[in-house]
Amino acid sequence: MDILRELGYLISAFLFILGIKYMGNPVTAIKGNIVSFVGMIIAVVFTFFHSTVNLGNLWFILLAILLGSFVGAYLAQSVKFTEMPQMVSFFNGMGGLTIALISVVEFFHKSNLDSFFIMSAGFSGAIGSVSFVGSMLAMAKLWGMFEKSKKSMAIRIFNLGLIISIFLVFVILILKPSPWLLIMLFILGGTLGFSGVFPIGGADMPVVIALLNAFTGLAASIAGFAINNNAMIVSGTLVGASGTILTILMAKAMNRTVWGVIVGGFGGVDQTSKFEKGNIQEIGVQDAAILLCYSKKVVIVPGYGMAVSNAQNEVHEIEELLEKKGVEVKYAIHPVAGRMPGHMNVLLAEAKVDYSKLYEMEKINPEFKTTDVVLIVGANDIVNPAAKNNPNSPLYGMPILEVDQAQNIIFMKRSLRPGFAGVDNELFFNSKTRMLFGDAKETLKKLISEIKNL
Ligand code: TAP
Repeated sequence: MDILRELGYLISAFLFILGIKYMGNPVTAIKGNIVSFVGMIIAVVFTFFHSTVNLGNLWFILLAILLGSFVGAYLAQSVKFTEMPQMVSFFNGMGGLTIALISVVEFFHKSNLDSFFIMSAGFSGAIGSVSFVGSMLAMAKLWGMFEKSKKSMAIRIFNLGLIISIFLVFVILILKPSPWLLIMLFILGGTLGFSGVFPIGGADMPVVIALLNAFTGLAASIAGFAINNNAMIVSGTLVGASGTILTILMAKAMNRTVWGVIVGGFGGVDQTSKFEKGNIQEIGVQDAAILLCYSKKVVIVPGYGMAVSNAQNEVHEIEELLEKKGVEVKYAIHPVAGRMPGHMNVLLAEAKVDYSKLYEMEKINPEFKTTDVVLIVGANDIVNPAAKNNPNSPLYGMPILEVDQAQNIIFMKRSLRPGFAGVDNELFFNSKTRMLFGDAKETLKKLISEIKNL
């Protein structure tokens, strides 16, 4: 029985790794999801092949699997694409909670508590609860709640105090094992999850979400050691490693340190505008169409607004129309555009945009000097000069797409409202900028018919 189970786990580990490999490319990403899904089913089914396990609660287990599958399938079907990051945060949080609960329950049930088990259970319980509460709060923040969070030294000191307390309780737990100390770790971890994520606002959420994901993976793999489950060790390690790589990449993209994010206190909303708000200049669809058609080179900058209005197909159509008129068209992709890693890449791939036309920030920035028109479609923070000019801004230090180097900027959005970070954008008032107000999809449709008429 045990050999059969381990064989099943080996196959599922292989499928998880293959799935991740496929997910590395938008063309094979769907295949990657299916392969990983099969791997997960195999891991769950083979968990029942256990010689020592008491399957007395089999009906409860099956009922829980059935209910969980229904809820998961319903959420996946009904969630709007723009709310996907919230769902990812929610699933991540549920993973953290499950792991923390496994540690506590096993601690109460196990008859011989060796120190290896105690250490693994303590660690996964604490990290799992940080991840659970932190992910739930991150989800609420992505929904626009707690927008007024502020950076504060007091919270940083409180967080450092919590980290020290967790360490001390962990040491006492090893010396004098008690399930109540584990529950205390659980509570301290949850508090750290809350107070660690609470002050993080503005543009820093991508780093914190990736970090919480890494925490859940780490907690799962350590819990796997605690309960001697190889599938959990392998899948947890995969999540932990990929989450850590993503955290480092995100932090690099935002020009932040990972430690700064762990201690908390980055971001927060600072509405101080350090620039003179002059007059804005508007442009109509007809003039915008002429400007685009008589350009040699156009760079499209997609952002969260494109995702909200589901305008990727219209963006692609504009690209094709302009190319037919001999205009060179490229896309500028900022690493944190939208609300999840690779958000723009996924949407543009869905609209069948040729992947070779997508340029990362480092590659496209030197090209803006030779660009006739930049067409910004529902982006804001990723082109906000405050990231370079205003040291008090929560965006300060984040590398941006340097669109102000181009000859003309068409800024497509519905109003002068700020983006996710809540920071006013001086680019609206730049003499090269023309605001094209309206919902991205509707405006692009009008732009398409104007271009067709030219
Ligand atoms: P944002 O700065 O959030 O700006 C999006 C803009 O789209 C808004 O200013 C909004 O202006 C406009 N918009 C909304 N709905 C629209 C519609 N239907 N039609 C046209 N425009 C619309 O987006 P961004 O530039 O992509 O930057 C991303 C931000 O999210 C960064 O601050 C980043 O740190 C943060 N974030 C990213 C991630 C990841 S991993 N990508 C995760 C969490 C947070 P109006 O309301 O005036 O239309």
